[in-house]
Amino acid sequence: MPKTDMFGYEITVSNEQVAHAWSGLIRAFLSHSDEAPALLKATIDADPDFALAHTAKGLFFMLAGRAEMVEAAREAHRDAVNARGRAGMTAREAGYLEALELWLDGRMRAAADKLDATLAAYPRDALALKLAHAVYFMLGAARDMRRSIEAVLSAHDDTMPMTGYVHGCHSFTLEETGDYRAAEIAGKKALLLARDDAWALHAVAHVYDMTGRAEDGVKWIEKRPESWAHCNNFRYHVWWHKALFHLDLGEVDEVLALYDHEIRSDKTDDYRDISNAASLLCRLELEDVDVGPRWEELADMCERRTDDTCVVFADMHYLLALLGDNRENAAARLVRSVRAAGKRHRGDMDDVAATAGAPLGDGLTAFRDGHYDLAYRQLGRGCRSLKLIGGSHAQRDVFERVHVEAAIRAGRLNEARSLLHERVTKRGREDGYTARRLAFIDRAERVSPGPVQAWA
Ligand SMILES: [Fe+2]
Repeated sequence: MPKTDMFGYEITVSNEQVAHAWSGLIRAFLSHSDEAPALLKATIDADPDFALAHTAKGLFFMLAGRAEMVEAAREAHRDAVNARGRAGMTAREAGYLEALELWLDGRMRAAADKLDATLAAYPRDALALKLAHAVYFMLGAARDMRRSIEAVLSAHDDTMPMTGYVHGCHSFTLEETGDYRAAEIAGKKALLLARDDAWALHAVAHVYDMTGRAEDGVKWIEKRPESWAHCNNFRYHVWWHKALFHLDLGEVDEVLALYDHEIRSDKTDDYRDISNAASLLCRLELEDVDVGPRWEELADMCERRTDDTCVVFADMHYLLALLGDNRENAAARLVRSVRAAGKRHRGDMDDVAATAGAPLGDGLTAFRDGHYDLAYRQLGRGCRSLKLIGGSHAQRDVFERVHVEAAIRAGRLNEARSLLHERVTKRGREDGYTARRLAFIDRAERVSPGPVQAWA
């Protein structure tokens, strides 16, 4: 008799124990639990012929967004193909494998669409849902993230085991498409159904960020440790969100303490962890805070990644760290790599390197060199395609802040004001950052029109 997974869909496993381990892995992946790697290993050890588990391993490696992980994903793909040869695969499982193949071939968008098509055919499959969500997220395709989930939402009722996590994903898509009130409701519903839904907790934190509710954001995260205590490195990202709220409130000591004791307590080299850290240090410096020697350990890691070019979002954060530590040669090497990737057109991410990565890289470099007018113009080009680099509005905001700062320091106060007003329009409300910048521009205009050398 065929074995089924927690969604009631057939899986090609040898016995019920493997099916049970697989269910544990799915729950761990959707809750961002640090137990996921061990559960995946246990599943594969128990049944090396389970091709979907090898395929999932390959997709997880690709989500890590690093060149050496692509090689590991290729190996997982080979294992999946061999396992399929021995035990076969269902049509649903084959959808995952095809998605992995497309992504390994550089066709990231097609990979996301394949996962989405698999979800559409098997709408209760919350693993396909979460994977499609994750890849669309890396592509900055917020509307696709939302459409993908809303097409199957009616297949998930509150009695099903993964429904909470599905609402958590839905909440994030609502937030990223600007429907903040609905996002807050969906995220809170998700946590009622799944207390450990860290993604839902995080989605609501995004709502507070985008709607300028920093005090609510601090309280929201502080009061719910049970929702993210179990997390893998995603917990650093939750701490990062809390630090953003403190920064918006002007509580710089709190931000630096979180940076040292939580966000960079482990010197990990996952691109998402480095991005949290680099983004926060950059924002602190834009607020004229001395961050001391904190750039150095980040720059050491990023110097080894100047030729990575797997994910433009990651490359731009590596660049922030290299420029932050004044490593001009390594920074220039990284920008050359991004530009070369943009010319080779071997995959979807190379196109992003050309349209967004190259001008952003030039703009960030010009900003560090003090060429503010050039920086303003280059960052303007990059920011026009900014969402293509993926990530969230909150994450990409660091580049928009540097753009505003370049305008101010170039004496383009009207342009800076326009950028800030656009930023408020995109968001739900004015935040502390915008209020401080607009007040500064007003003061600067009253005192002396013209170039402004420093934020004060
Ligand atoms: Fe986030």
